[in-house]
Amino acid sequence: MCGIVGYVGNGTACGKPLEVCMEGLKRLEYRGYDSAGVAVVAPGLGSALVRKKSGRLANLSAELERDPLPEATAAIGHTRWATNGEPSDVNAHPHTSADGHIAIIHNGIIENAGVLREQLKEEGYSFDSATDTEVAAKLLGRNADEIIAENGETDLFEALRRTARMLTGAFTILAVDCRQPDIVVGVRHDSPLVVGLGVEENFLGSDVAAFVAYTKEAMELGQDEAVCISSHEVIVTDFDGTPITDSRRFSVDWDAGAAEKGGWDSFMDKEIHEDPAAVRNTLLGRFSAQGDIVLDEVRIEPEVFRAVDKIIVVACGTASYAGMVAKYAIEHWVRIPVEVELAHEFRYRDPILTPRTLVVAISQSGETMDTLMALRHAREQGSHVLAICNTQGSSIPRESDAVLYTHAGPEVAVASTKAFVSQIVAAYLLGLYLAQVKSTLYADEIHEVVEQLKAMPDKIQWVLDNVSSTVEAAAKRLVNSRSFLFLGRHVGYPVAMEGALKLKEVAYTFTEGFAAGELKHGPIALVEEGEPVVVIVPSARGRDVLHNKVVSGIEEVKARGAFTVAVAEEGDPDAERYADVVFWRPQCPTLLSPLVDVVSLQLLALDMARLKGYDVDKPRNLAKSVTVE
Ligand code: F6R
Repeated sequence: MCGIVGYVGNGTACGKPLEVCMEGLKRLEYRGYDSAGVAVVAPGLGSALVRKKSGRLANLSAELERDPLPEATAAIGHTRWATNGEPSDVNAHPHTSADGHIAIIHNGIIENAGVLREQLKEEGYSFDSATDTEVAAKLLGRNADEIIAENGETDLFEALRRTARMLTGAFTILAVDCRQPDIVVGVRHDSPLVVGLGVEENFLGSDVAAFVAYTKEAMELGQDEAVCISSHEVIVTDFDGTPITDSRRFSVDWDAGAAEKGGWDSFMDKEIHEDPAAVRNTLLGRFSAQGDIVLDEVRIEPEVFRAVDKIIVVACGTASYAGMVAKYAIEHWVRIPVEVELAHEFRYRDPILTPRTLVVAISQSGETMDTLMALRHAREQGSHVLAICNTQGSSIPRESDAVLYTHAGPEVAVASTKAFVSQIVAAYLLGLYLAQVKSTLYADEIHEVVEQLKAMPDKIQWVLDNVSSTVEAAAKRLVNSRSFLFLGRHVGYPVAMEGALKLKEVAYTFTEGFAAGELKHGPIALVEEGEPVVVIVPSARGRDVLHNKVVSGIEEVKARGAFTVAVAEEGDPDAERYADVVFWRPQCPTLLSPLVDVVSLQLLALDMARLKGYDVDKPRNLAKSVTVE
C-alpha cells in the first residue's frame, strides 16, 4: 500500500533530508502511485512546509522544481495508494495540523475516523480533504496543544502516542513539527515501519528499500510501538511511553543496486530474468555435505515437526498458488494432509487448528494484512506458524514462530515473479525437511530430489534463452485477443492459475485459470473461435497418466476453434501435433516442472503488456504490498 519515509540528520546522506526522502520515495513507489508528497521542518520555520501532487512521483518532482522547499533538518515523504478519499492533490499526504506546525503521513485505514471527525468538528476544527489521515493530523495537533497547555512545552513524541491510543484500525503514522525540527516520530499498529540506523542520521521507512541506499543497518519495530529518531538517537517505546530496549537489529542482505533496473526496460523483465538466481539463492546453505536438509534458522524443535499431523498454508494471490504447488509435493513426500487456504477466508470460517497443525504463511512482502491476521488467528489457537517470506524485518516473520527466508532479492515490480519460484523452492525444502524428521522418505530419495532442485536454475535459464522469442511471437499474434483460458492438471493447475493472474494484472486481459479436468463441467462453453487457450501439458514420460488426458483437452478446445498454446516437455509429439504454438520446457521431474513452466507464462504476460503499451511495473489499481484487509 502506501510508501513512507522519514529522515533526520547530517550524516553520510549529506544532511539533505528532502533529497533522502525523494530518493526513498522513488524506491517505494511500487507500494502506491496515486499521489506523492513531502514535508520538511527546520529551525526558524513557522510551519511544516508541504508539497504534494496527485499522480506519479514525477509530478511531485516537477512541483518541487516549480516551488522549491528550503534547506531542512528533517523530512517525511509519502507515496499513496488511495484507500480513503480519491487520488487528488488535496487528498495526497502529508496533511497538517490546524495551525500548520505539524505534518503527518499515514499508511493504513483509521476505522474510527468518522467519529473523530465529528468530535473535532464540534470542537471547531474544519477539514479540507476526505481522508482519515487529515483527521489524525488535526487530532495530533490538538493533542500537541493539550500537552503544551499541561507541561508548557512541545512534546511531539508524546502527542503522537496519545493520538495513537485514540485511533482504531491499521496505521503507521510519521510526524514532524516545526517546533521540534530535529526529530521525526512514528507509531505503528498493524502496518509496517522499520528504522534505518546511520551515523549522525537515522531513517524510517515502510520497508528497508526506503533507506538501503544509505545504510544496511536496520531495526524492526514491533506491534504498537512508537519511535522517535534524531540524528544521534533512536528511542522506542510502547504507546504508553514505556521504553522498549530489546533491539531487534538486522543487516539488510542486499544492495541498493539490486532494487534498480540496471539496464532492463522494466523491473518485471529484470525480475523474470532473476528467476534462476532466486531459486539458486533460496537453495544456498540449506544442505549438509551429505545432502541432508539443514534449516538452521528455523527455530522450531524437530519434535514439534515430528508431531505435525496437518499443514495449512495461508497466503494470497501468487503466494497462494505457490502453496498449491507445494501441496502436491509435501503430501507426496510427507504423507500428511496439506490444505491451502486464501488467508482472507481462513479465520472467518473457524478452521480446525491444533498444536499439531503447522500453519505456513507464505508472503513475499511479509506485510499482507490478510495473511498476518490469519497467522495471528492460528497462533491464538495454539498452532505453530512458520513464515516463508522474502522481506527481512517485516511483520509476518516477526510474528511467526519461525521463518524460512526466500532469498529472491528485492521484488519491485508489482506483479510477483521471482518470488513465486523461490516460494515454491522454500516450501519444497520445508517438505523435504519434514520428510527427513518424520522418516517418510529415505535419505537417498531426499538426496535425489535435492540434486534435481539444484539443477533447476539451469533449466529455468534454458527457458529464458530458448523460449523467449517463441513467447514474444505468440504475444504479437494474440495481443488483440479478448480473453484467455489457462488449463492445467496436478501441479499444472496452480501454474495455470498463476499464468492467468499474471496476464490479468499487467495486460488487463480477461483470463481464467481452470483445472483441465473441469473443462467439460462448464468452462468449455467459453471457448470461442480464434481465442487462445493455454494448456500446461504434463510430461509424457514414465507413469505420467495425466499427459494423455490433458492432450485430449487440447483436442477438444481446438475442435471448437480455439487457438491453442501448449507448455510442454521438449519433443512431446502430441503437443507438437495438436497445439498451434508450444512453449517448450526442458525435461524435469513433474513436481519441479512449475518452476520452469511459469517462466514462459510470466514472459507472455510481460510481452502482452508491453505490446499494449502498459506500465508493466505499476499496473493500474494495484499496489505491491496489501497492508489493509
Ligand atoms: C500477484 C501478486 C499478488 C501477491 C499477493 C500476496 O502478482 O503480486 O497476488 O502475490 O498480494 O502478496 P505477498 O506475497 O506480499 O503476501
